[in-house]
Amino acid sequence: MKPALHAIGAASREIPSYIPSGRECLLFEQAWRHRLPVLLKGPTGCGKTRFVSHMAARLGLPLHTVACHDDLTAADLTGRYLLKGGDTVWTDGPLTRAVREGGICYLDEMVEARKDVTVVLHPLTDDRRILPLERTGEELTAPPSFMLVVSYNPGYQNLLKALKPSTRQRFVAIEFGFLPPEQEIAVVAAESGLAPDRVRPLVQLAGRLRALKGHDLEEGVSTRLLVYCATLVAAGATVADAVLAGMIEPLTDDVDVKGALVEVARAIIG
Ligand SMILES: Nc1ncnc2c1ncn2[C@@H]1O[C@H](COP(=O)(O)OP(=O)(O)O)[C@@H](O)[C@H]1O
Ligand SMILES: [Mg+2]
Repeated sequence: MKPALHAIGAASREIPSYIPSGRECLLFEQAWRHRLPVLLKGPTGCGKTRFVSHMAARLGLPLHTVACHDDLTAADLTGRYLLKGGDTVWTDGPLTRAVREGGICYLDEMVEARKDVTVVLHPLTDDRRILPLERTGEELTAPPSFMLVVSYNPGYQNLLKALKPSTRQRFVAIEFGFLPPEQEIAVVAAESGLAPDRVRPLVQLAGRLRALKGHDLEEGVSTRLLVYCATLVAAGATVADAVLAGMIEPLTDDVDVKGALVEVARAIIG
C-alpha cells in the first residue's frame, strides 16, 4: 500500500512557490543528482520545509516527511511488527518506505529524535546507501532517486541537542537565514495577499525585533509569523491587533519584554 504523501507528491503537478535567497535550488539539485544527503540549517519559520516541498515537486520526486520529536525512535522510522487480526505483520516505517520507493525522505528537526535514530541513518549517508532491517533480516539498497534531507535549528542553545560532528559531517549543509527585506516583502505579500506597500512596515518591524534576539528573546520573528500577521491584516484586522497577535504574543510570555516589543512596534507602525 502506498502512503498518502507519495500519492500526493507523485500526482500533483503544482509546485509550491518558493523564492530563493541564493543558489540553494541548484545546489540541492546537484546534491540529488550525485546522491549526496543534505542538511538544512536555519531558524524556525525561514522556509526550510517549503524549500524541500518545492524541490521535491520540481524534481518530480515523492516526498516522505517525518516531524521528529523527542520520543521518536529508530523503529518509528524503520518499521515494526504489528498485530493485525491475530497475526503479527511487518509494517514499514516512513524511512523504509522512502528507501523502497525512492524520492526524498525529509526528517524535520532531526536533533529532536533519540540517539538511536542517527545510527540507522549512517549507512544511508555513505556510498553504500543501505538500510539494514535487523528485525526482518533484509538489507535494502536505496534506489538512485532516494535522497535523505534533514533539517536542524542551530539557534537552540542546548548543547545536549547539538548535532554530533560524526553525524553532521555526513551531509552537504545549506544554511538558511531570513531573506533580505525586498525578497521577504515579496514572499509575505504573495503568501498573505496583502499589498507589498502594506507588508513593508511589517517586515521593517520584524527586522527591528530580530535585532533584539539574544537579549530578551530566544528566537526572532520568523517569516511564518510575518505571513500570519499580514494574513490577519488582509482579513481586516487592525495593524496593531495583527502585530500583537501575529508577532509579539507568539514570541514571549514575559510582561516586561512584551511591553518593550509593543513600544518598538508603536514607533514603527504607529
Ligand atoms: N523563500 C520562501 N519562499 C516562499 N515562502 C516562504 C519562503 N520562506 C518562508 N516562506 C513562508 O514561511 C512559511 C514558513 O516556512 P517553513 O518552510 O515552514 O519554515 P521552516 O521549515 O524553516 O520552519 C511558509 O509556509 C511560507 O509561507
Ligand atoms: Mg519546518
